[in-house]
Amino acid sequence: SWTMDSIIEDSVAAIREQVGANRVILGLSGGVDSSVVAALCARAIGKQLTCVFVNHGLLRKNEPEEVEEVFTKQFDVDFVHVHAEDRYAALLADVVEPEQKRRIIGSQFWKEFFSVAQDLDGVKFLAQGTIYPDIIESGARKTGGKASTIKSHHNLIPFPEGVHFDLIEPLDHFFKDEVRALGTALGLPDHIVHRQPFPGPGLAIRIIGTVTREKLEILKNADAIVREELDAYNARIFEETGDRNSERSVWQYFAVLPDIKSVGVMGDERTYAYPIILRAVESSDAMTADWAKLPYEVLERVSGRIVAEVPGVNRVAYDITSKPPATIEWE
Ligand code: XMP
Repeated sequence: SWTMDSIIEDSVAAIREQVGANRVILGLSGGVDSSVVAALCARAIGKQLTCVFVNHGLLRKNEPEEVEEVFTKQFDVDFVHVHAEDRYAALLADVVEPEQKRRIIGSQFWKEFFSVAQDLDGVKFLAQGTIYPDIIESGARKTGGKASTIKSHHNLIPFPEGVHFDLIEPLDHFFKDEVRALGTALGLPDHIVHRQPFPGPGLAIRIIGTVTREKLEILKNADAIVREELDAYNARIFEETGDRNSERSVWQYFAVLPDIKSVGVMGDERTYAYPIILRAVESSDAMTADWAKLPYEVLERVSGRIVAEVPGVNRVAYDITSKPPATIEWE
């Protein structure tokens, strides 16, 4: 539309003016906000932008490949894929406590990020996907005491000794819906623009207890089925209502892997394997949430597919607790 075009034009002009001939670095997570900043900067300054994608190995199935595809094939930026999977696996090997997982994952992100940043010549700016509500909350997210480390308010960025970048925050006067509209207008695919919220620490906080390669594999495969089935369910609701934010659609949905096993039977064999917990909630701001009253057919399909298609799983349970008193995540 005309207004969207002029908003983009104004933002592009402002970025060009601020950046001049300098280089910009951005931590790309694959989330909506950082992706829209990347797309906007791509239009404004092209290869003067370096996108650093720190792959902690804790993203959902196929996500790293999808992010790389979009920002190497579709947008003409300098894209650095940091394969940090092994380093994160080693750091998390014995960690059980949820907040400790968060601290380790958050601080390692900045180590990985600055190690790339310091190797690049002439980087003057760090771009961030700070949006207007982030500023209002000043980074102190009231989500049961869990703070978002990656999107902490800018003065909390732990610059190493002697390192400083000026900040570019082109989304700092936009609300989430406006950021999504911008993303669509800039040509970002729907799977990024309409991505459900996903925590910075990723699947590590959906694996109860220690994170191992085996558990990650199980969770990724189960979660892929949950997303496939509930994406399709949401698409049907969207088709019927024409409203992406319909009260009937599910807001956030994922699989959780607890660290217990239970007995099952398959053929004539007794199995002793993990259960998967399905979590699906309706919410508008994550402060409160209702467990989603999904149709039995949907629950049946999800359960049937997970036990049939994911080795190592013999049971599926549905979390029927709202927030409060539970949180949306299990850790
Ligand atoms: P809870 O579990 O507190 O989650 O009800 C509320 C919302 O916040 C997300 N969440 C996080 N996001 N870093 C993030 O970036 C985190 O450490 C984190 N913990 C929870 C959660 O997915 C939900 O949307």
